[in-house]
Amino acid sequence: MRIYIARDYKDLSRKAANIISAQVIMKPDCVLGLATGSSPIGAYKQLVEWYEKGDLDFSEVRTVNLDEYKGLTGDNKESYRYFMNTNLFDHVNIDKANTNVPNGMAKNTEAECRRYNELIRSLGGIDLQLLGIGRNGHIGFNEPEEAFEKETHVVALTQSTIEANSRLFDDPDDVPRYALTMGIKSIMQARRVLLIASGEDKADAIHKSLFGPVTPHVPASILQMHNNLTVVADKAALSSCGKELEDAANKEGFYVDL
Ligand code: F6R
Repeated sequence: MRIYIARDYKDLSRKAANIISAQVIMKPDCVLGLATGSSPIGAYKQLVEWYEKGDLDFSEVRTVNLDEYKGLTGDNKESYRYFMNTNLFDHVNIDKANTNVPNGMAKNTEAECRRYNELIRSLGGIDLQLLGIGRNGHIGFNEPEEAFEKETHVVALTQSTIEANSRLFDDPDDVPRYALTMGIKSIMQARRVLLIASGEDKADAIHKSLFGPVTPHVPASILQMHNNLTVVADKAALSSCGKELEDAANKEGFYVDL
């Protein structure tokens, strides 16, 4: 596990964008696993800036997003498809046909989940999966559970997630109660995982995920088992990890950029 400590959100976004752009430069037709939410907005903005300067080319890049709300069309401004278009895809030279988000409007959600799993397989798997983290340790919409869910599935969102996400909706009652999400197995099969976290409200989740026991009650804790995990977090998000970070800096298998 490599941990990079960012000064603030701006620094975090730049570091994350650097890692993503390195992937695109090294493998121009790479498969990027992408996330929505507040955490990656700054990184996407930075990527757009570098693209505009002529430093990045997305023409061959393929993408698969982690999740989508059930019942929202792609042109609904709260949908994750809309988020991806407006924050990244509309501003770079990516071929939209190569961008994938689960279809929240699919009549048969089970079939849609199977299609999405097949799609990830047919792309040859994910080269770099970008992840944010929920305050309860969720990744994608894999909420705390008794067992890890493996592949793409439908989830009932927890109250904590509904509340956290209601800030993005005009009316909190409009927050969908269900979503389609990639499962833990799909995420863990990515060749590289980049987890980003900003702000003190993520401190507890980050502490438990990076240094606590591996448990489905803290879904992101499974990332400790990934052999190519990079964490970029700001000081606030790492504020509960002080001692563990110092210890980790001297442990085999860890690199901590203190
Ligand atoms: C979004 C996603 C979620 C978010 C998480 C953190 O595609 O998969 O797991 O990454 O809820 O959200 P923010 O970044 O808004 O704090």
